[in-house]
Amino acid sequence: SLKRLMPSDIRALKGTAPVVVLTAYTTPVAKLADPACDVLLVGDSLGMVLHGLPSTLGVTMEMMILHGQAVMRGSDRALVVIDMPFASYEESPAQAFRNAARIMAETGAGAVKLEGGVHMRETIAFLVARGIPVMAHIGLTPQSVNTLGGYKVQGKGADAARLMADAQAVAEAGAFSVVLEKVPAGLAGEISRALPIPTIGIGAGVACDGQVLVVDDMLGLFSDFKPKFVKRYAELGRTAAEAVAAYAAEVRAKRFPAPEHSFFDEANK
Ligand code: KIV
Ligand code: NA
Repeated sequence: SLKRLMPSDIRALKGTAPVVVLTAYTTPVAKLADPACDVLLVGDSLGMVLHGLPSTLGVTMEMMILHGQAVMRGSDRALVVIDMPFASYEESPAQAFRNAARIMAETGAGAVKLEGGVHMRETIAFLVARGIPVMAHIGLTPQSVNTLGGYKVQGKGADAARLMADAQAVAEAGAFSVVLEKVPAGLAGEISRALPIPTIGIGAGVACDGQVLVVDDMLGLFSDFKPKFVKRYAELGRTAAEAVAAYAAEVRAKRFPAPEHSFFDEANK
């Protein structure tokens, strides 16, 4: 059987091939994405796109573990990375280790992701030294929406130096890759050239070492809003709504079920 990609394999793609990352939250979506992707990210975006929460802040450890287990069952090639939810790692390196170890043990995933740059340096180093590979996430970090004051582009103007410092800090701490979210394309390219680890962009331009999208966004399944950085590769939500409307019309017209969907007993006609 195929061996799963490991964080060291993803790290080794730097300078060789773009890293293809897509979120996945369920077994069927993991099954269809696994052959084409290097990394399946069980993102805490699942709170918004699957559970209807207003932000990622209400996502729990239990939700991440349940969806992480589902994605592991539907994949055998891609590296599965699971987001650490809000308030499961910020308190201390020890708290982060306890919760990251639980996620790894209960799902079998190969790595965790957490949000933060310079201020997470010590935590990332603590986890990596104890056997837990970490993908970092800097720039727009949605768990900090309340302190950032919205979902704004990060690292503009004089703020570029802060973002470069965050990138250097997570790389030095031992992260095997780093997500750059909503960062100007020029700065993302500069960071990508400066770092020894792959940068994974989302709204960060084509110069990143890899790209990530939320699968429900790119398939057109989540349509509450569409960020500028999303490209719709399909309109599955529209297709599904049309299918449901056709079903409802046929039930009301008594055209469904047809004989081929029905069972008959020759003895009792
Ligand atoms: O939660 C998520 O889906 C993410 C990606 C957008 C990077 O963190
Ligand atoms: Na996330």
